[in-house]
Amino acid sequence: KEAKLWGGRFEKGVTDAVEKFTESISYDKDLYKHDIMGSRAHATMLNKQGLMSSSDLDSIVKGLDQIEKQIENGEFVWRRDREDVHMNIEAALTDLIGEPAKKLHTARSRNDQVSTDFRLWCRDAIDTIHARIKYLQVALVSLAKENDGVIVPGYTHLQRAQPVLLQHHILAYVEMLERDAGRLLDCRARLNFCPLGACALAGTGLPIDRIMTSDALGFTAPMRNSMDAVSDRDFVLELLSANSITAVHLSRLGEEWVLWASEEFGFITPSDSVSTGSSIMPQKKNPDPMELVRGKSARVIGDLMTLLTLCKGLPLAYNRDLQEDKEPVFDSVKTIIGMLEVSAEFAENITFNLDRIQKTLPAGHLDATTLADYLVHKGLPFRTGHDIVGRAVALCVYKSCQLQDLSLDEFRTINPVFDQGVYDYLGVENSVKKFSSHGSTGSECVADQLKTWISKLNLE
Ligand code: ARG
Repeated sequence: KEAKLWGGRFEKGVTDAVEKFTESISYDKDLYKHDIMGSRAHATMLNKQGLMSSSDLDSIVKGLDQIEKQIENGEFVWRRDREDVHMNIEAALTDLIGEPAKKLHTARSRNDQVSTDFRLWCRDAIDTIHARIKYLQVALVSLAKENDGVIVPGYTHLQRAQPVLLQHHILAYVEMLERDAGRLLDCRARLNFCPLGACALAGTGLPIDRIMTSDALGFTAPMRNSMDAVSDRDFVLELLSANSITAVHLSRLGEEWVLWASEEFGFITPSDSVSTGSSIMPQKKNPDPMELVRGKSARVIGDLMTLLTLCKGLPLAYNRDLQEDKEPVFDSVKTIIGMLEVSAEFAENITFNLDRIQKTLPAGHLDATTLADYLVHKGLPFRTGHDIVGRAVALCVYKSCQLQDLSLDEFRTINPVFDQGVYDYLGVENSVKKFSSHGSTGSECVADQLKTWISKLNLE
C-alpha cells in the first residue's frame, strides 16, 4: 500500500471501512479543473516569491497540463486510497515529475485549497445558471409576443378574479426570474474573494503574495481573515438559497402549466415532444416534464436544508464535516439547470387554445371590480359601489346571466346612479381596457413591459 501524503507520523494505514467512509474522490473529482487552475496560480506565485525555482515551476505546469489532458481523455486513474481530488492530483503529479511536485504544497493546505476550488466551481456554476435563466426568460417573452391581445381569467384563491392579458401573466414569471438572476449575481460578487494563502487556518510566515494568486484566479481580492477563509461556507448557502427560490418559482410555473393542460382548464396543449404517455392507459398524454420541475424543486430545497444543517454548530476553523458540502451543491446546481432547460423547452412547445379560453371568459363575473370602479367614477364611495355591484352579481347568479346582460332598468332598480355608460365597463374586453395604473394589465402598460423585455433580452 502507498504511504499517505500526510503519513509521516502514522505507523499503520487506515482500515478499509474508514477509507471508504472518508473518501470524497468519488464526487469531488468534479473540482479537478479548478484545482489545477488554483495549483498553476499558486506555483507561479511561489516562483515569483523565490519559493520555487523556474525549472520546478516549469515541470509542475507541464505536469499539471498533462494530468488535465489525461482527466479529460478519461485516462486518469482516480484512486480511493488517495482520498480526494487534491491529493489525487498532487500524488499523480509526483508520480509524473518526481521531486519538484513536492514543492507545490508550500504555504498551502487542503483547507484553503478546497475553499478556493469550490468558490471557482460555484462561480462557473452561477454563470451557467444565469445564462439558463436568461434563456428561459427569452422563451417566455417569445411566448408572450406570440399571444398578443389574448385575455385570460386572472385568479386569486384559484377562483376567477379579474381579466388579465395573457402576456401580463407570462411576464410575471419573467420578472421573478429577473430577481433570481440578480440574486445569483449578488452571490457571485460576494463569493468572489480568494481564500488561497489562508493555509490550514492561520496563514503562513512564508513570503507569499496573496494578491497575485487572487488576481490570477479572477478574484476581487484575497479574503481578509484566514480563519474565516477556510471555515465558512456561506457562499454555498447563498447559492443554494438562490437556487431554492428559483426552484420555487419554476415549481409554481410547473403547477400552472400542469393545471392549464388539464381537461378542466384546457388552456394549453403541450406538443408531443414535451409530453409522455401511460403504460396502461392508451389515451393518456401527460405534462410530465413540468410535473418533474415541480417535483425536483423538493430536492433543491432539500439540498439547502442539508447545507444549513451541516454548517450549524461547527466551531472554527476547518472541520471535516465540510467535506459533505459538495454533493448537495453539485445536486442543486445540476437539478436547477435541468429545471430551467426543460421549462424553456416546454415554453417553446405549448400552444394556447384560444377558442377554449375565449369560451370560458364569460364565467366568473371577471368584470365586477371594473364595475365597482365605474361607480367610483360616478362619485360613489368605493365601499358603497362594492355593495351595489355585489347585489348586481347576486341578481346575475339568480338569473344565470352576466353583468352585461342586465338591463339599465335592472341596474337602476339597484341604484339610480347607473346610466348607459355602464356598458362601456362590462365584458372582459372592456374591462381589460380600463386598466391604466403603472404595472397593471392595461394593454398599453403591458405593451410597454413587453417592449422593455424585448430590448433587455436583445430580442429585436
Ligand atoms: N476533501 C476535503 C474536503 O472536501 C479537503 C480538505 C481536507 N482537509 C483536511 N485537513 N482533512 O473538505
